[in-house]
Amino acid sequence: MRFVIAAFLLPSLATSAIALDVVFPDCDAPPTLDPSPRLPENVSWVDPRLRGGRMLDVVGSLRTGEPLNVIISGQSHPDVLSHVGFIAYARTIGFSNECLGLHMGLVQLADLGDGIGLRGEQLLVRQTFRRHIPFWGTTCWESFAGGNHFRAWKQNGTLANTGAWFLAVSAEESGSKHHAIIPDGYNIGRDLLVSRAVAEDNEEWKASVDWVQGLMEPGSKGINHRIPVDGLVAVLTVRKRNEDEKKPWRSLWTLLRFLLPFLPL
Ligand SMILES: *[C@@H]1O[C@H](CO)[C@@H](O)[C@H](O)[C@H]1NC(C)=O
Ligand SMILES: *[C@@H]1O[C@H](CO)[C@@H](O)[C@H](O)[C@H]1NC(C)=O
Repeated sequence: MRFVIAAFLLPSLATSAIALDVVFPDCDAPPTLDPSPRLPENVSWVDPRLRGGRMLDVVGSLRTGEPLNVIISGQSHPDVLSHVGFIAYARTIGFSNECLGLHMGLVQLADLGDGIGLRGEQLLVRQTFRRHIPFWGTTCWESFAGGNHFRAWKQNGTLANTGAWFLAVSAEESGSKHHAIIPDGYNIGRDLLVSRAVAEDNEEWKASVDWVQGLMEPGSKGINHRIPVDGLVAVLTVRKRNEDEKKPWRSLWTLLRFLLPFLPL
């Protein structure tokens, strides 16, 4: 399989610079199709399809892939956009790379249309189910519990250097040796990650979400295991909470909200 992909990839890399001018000869070019690789300032993310990428990754062969169903916008806090910082952020929403190496599975590839072409996942993190076992220490429990995981790629090639993370998120069958994706597992996995990211109980970070339609087809065409998707992509913008948003004020607000219905207004 590796050889098939490599053989496909090399010619496409070699011709990609020329292909850009040939593919959209007569269209009204949207700003991101300007042949100059310089993007307008502060672009959150660029549709990978504009420069030959796609919103599915590659699992084994180019015919199937998992949906890139969450984008961490390039307007997010710089810490979150860095490699180490993103791992730290992921931990605050219940994901960790600590169990890396236990169940790597196949490396998946993605082309984010930023000029780098297909590249292996840059991060694989799993929902954490950590248990402390006396005399042994903390361990990863995820092989019994199933749960969520995601792979991530960074859009930082010179043709679309937005810094955004593109995530393929899915939810797995519990207790499965093969980490099978549950029916509807791509939508469920995405929604679960989003609900944690926007949750008010994260002391350090807050995220806003935009739902984007039209980046991928709804249905199961080309989707790994033919698990249908609703075609929506969640774009998260993650910001650091201000000092005054932190605990004391927020708990006061929570109290006020609780009392509000009882006030004689
Ligand atoms: C880009 O973002 C920075 C930091 O948020 C801001 O200072 C700058 O004005 C923005 N530039 C544009 C063109 O919006
Ligand atoms: C792009 O991001 C990846 C993942 O964080 C990193 O390994 C790589 O060095 C970055 N490339 C550039 C040119 O910054």
